Amino acid sequence: MLENVKDVLITEQEIQAKVEELAKVITEDFRGKPLLIIGVLKGANVFVADLIRKIEIPLILDFMSLSSYGSSTESSGAVRILKDLDEDIKGMHVLVVEDIVDSGLTLNYLSKNLESRGAASISLCTLLDKPERRKAPIDVKYKGFDIPDEFIVGYGIDFAEQYRNLPFIGVLKPEAYNK
Ligand code: IMP
Ligand code: MG
Repeated sequence: MLENVKDVLITEQEIQAKVEELAKVITEDFRGKPLLIIGVLKGANVFVADLIRKIEIPLILDFMSLSSYGSSTESSGAVRILKDLDEDIKGMHVLVVEDIVDSGLTLNYLSKNLESRGAASISLCTLLDKPERRKAPIDVKYKGFDIPDEFIVGYGIDFAEQYRNLPFIGVLKPEAYNK
């Protein structure tokens, strides 16, 4: 598995320090408000599991699974909901947690969709951001790291469903996805 990883971009320790920092700010910002955290499957699963355990206020956890139409590397902007929420979000302060924002099309769609359901507020959190690749405007309030335009894996993030179990964020060798 590791033979296909070119570099470690963000170490396990750096991720954990950032998770604590984000959780502290989220704890203060949402204190006294009914908080619903939505993890976007599958990539954000590892991040959201670490993040919620550092948040020190009551919260409800739910998940959505989304798929964007288009080729494997370029999204068309049309997003399909594969798994919807179990909970009603009316009156809740919603925090959407993503693994990585690329074109922004997924979160742009999801924000609009959630706005129409009567949440009290909607905020976005992502561990990683590739700002150079943005196509759709989104307002990410809680961000871990800006990263360059390279294909990364690990800490929940996959290539062809592999590498999610790496504890760090690594850059995949181009040979690995040109096979
Ligand atoms: P977008 O912002 O709508 O373009 O989509 C973001 C989604 O694309 C993320 O949630 C990932 O699933 C996927 N993605 C973007 N960049 C990478 C990457 O470097 N490695 C793995 N998945 C990625
Ligand atoms: Mg994702």
